[in-house]
Amino acid sequence: MKKEEIKKAEGKLAVLIPGMGAVTSTLIAGVEMVKKGIGKPFGSITQMQRIRLGKRYENRNPLIKEFVSIANLEDLVFGGWDIYDDSIYEAALKCEVFSQEQLRPVKDELSEIKPMPAVFDKKFVKNLNPSIMKKAKTKMDLALMLMEDIKKFCSENKTSRAVMVWAGSTEVFIEEKDVHSSLKKFEEGLKKNSPYISPSMIYAYAALKSKVPYANGAPNLSADIPALVELSELNGVPIAGKDFKTGQTLMKTILAPGLKARMLGVRGWYSTNILGNRDGLVLDDEGSFKTKEKSKKSVLDTILEPDLYPDLYSNIYHKVRIDYYPPRGDAKEGWDNIDIFGWMNMPMQIKINFLCRDSILAAPVMLDILLFLDFAQRAGLKGIQEWMSFFFKSPMHRPDLKPENDLFIQHMKLKNTLRLLMHEEIIDHSGLDYYENKFKPIIPKPPKKK
Ligand SMILES: NC(=O)c1ccc[n+]([C@@H]2O[C@H](COP(=O)([O-])OP(=O)(O)OC[C@H]3O[C@@H](n4cnc5c(N)ncnc54)[C@H](O)[C@@H]3O)[C@@H](O)[C@H]2O)c1
Repeated sequence: MKKEEIKKAEGKLAVLIPGMGAVTSTLIAGVEMVKKGIGKPFGSITQMQRIRLGKRYENRNPLIKEFVSIANLEDLVFGGWDIYDDSIYEAALKCEVFSQEQLRPVKDELSEIKPMPAVFDKKFVKNLNPSIMKKAKTKMDLALMLMEDIKKFCSENKTSRAVMVWAGSTEVFIEEKDVHSSLKKFEEGLKKNSPYISPSMIYAYAALKSKVPYANGAPNLSADIPALVELSELNGVPIAGKDFKTGQTLMKTILAPGLKARMLGVRGWYSTNILGNRDGLVLDDEGSFKTKEKSKKSVLDTILEPDLYPDLYSNIYHKVRIDYYPPRGDAKEGWDNIDIFGWMNMPMQIKINFLCRDSILAAPVMLDILLFLDFAQRAGLKGIQEWMSFFFKSPMHRPDLKPENDLFIQHMKLKNTLRLLMHEEIIDHSGLDYYENKFKPIIPKPPKKK
């Protein structure tokens, strides 16, 4: 596609979110604070990061949001669904990420946003009891109700486009079944109430049928099934997922590539967390934890490649634990003990104690995901957006390719995809120009005399 053909981000963008809890309320509160000039969007690539273009001596380093057409924060209109009818202000107060004092300047804006009744099924999230939810005979009827919600929200708010990001609770672990294998079988399953179709799949289906790009911030399968990948390609809609890359896994994907680059071996990696928010409560259920555990454990194998480096990485004991501990709320604490070995097999240890704030790390990731999804749609991209792997713990990928989990490769891929789409030179930081004296010499200017 020619860069002139990428449609500009004009008009309002509907941001539709199933799951209006801690991450969602932290995101919306933050966006409103940025709009009022009382906070900065730290952690967000789209808002803060610059991208180098051309050779180093060209000194072209625009902000990403100036380089590609990204929706303006002023143009975002938030809406969504939950099983509790708290406004975003009430949800933000309950999850205690920001204090009441910090929320005061944006109270009015947050109080106006109220969730629509959710599509919910307790079989998939055991530890929650809904107070508002949709009721219908079949799962297909529920999907149609969601499509109606999307249509109504967009027309009432006069939006020109929409995106959907799942920030709902982690659903219990399910494996891919026959009903997920094609769109035809999936649609039959919706009509026959297949027990293997979860609420997050119904939201994803409703989004894709409405030509709304969809991303999944949790580790449950959702759109990561052949049927919905097929629908996204058929309808020309981008999809991405799964599981926002924050906290301990972010640290893992920063550290593991470094150990591998220096050919240091790993014998064991023990990770444990305490967490006291609603997410922690949901993950206290074995089924939901299994989904999260799978997502968190998969990263080391793909980064360290034990099949290529058996001496270094084939014998790792990798353990991940999350313990629900209410006194901590959203202020998660994680500990990692990493047993490594070096020269002559000599053992060493690394300890990490990360006192993070779960939603403070997740909110900017969610913002970038929704803005890039919208950009991808306007750039004519469809199906799995592998270049957005940077934001996910368990990136969606083509079944014949292994996922890329190394944060630095993911970062390079993201920026190079933007360069490619904008017809700029790919930058891989190599090349022989440096040695062949082809580059323009940089002559430092003398300081101006006063
Ligand atoms: N906070 C992080 O750092 C982080 C990182 C990666 C992934 N995640 C995932 O993001 C999701 C949101 O995290 P959170 O901390 O905001 O959790 P949360 O519990 O505060 O919010 C989730 C919300 O989803 C609602 N919900 C559950 N099922 C629903 C359904 N079927 N439809 C609509 N709403 C539904 C719940 O009522 C709740 O309000 C979780 O799945 C979590 O595992 C969070």
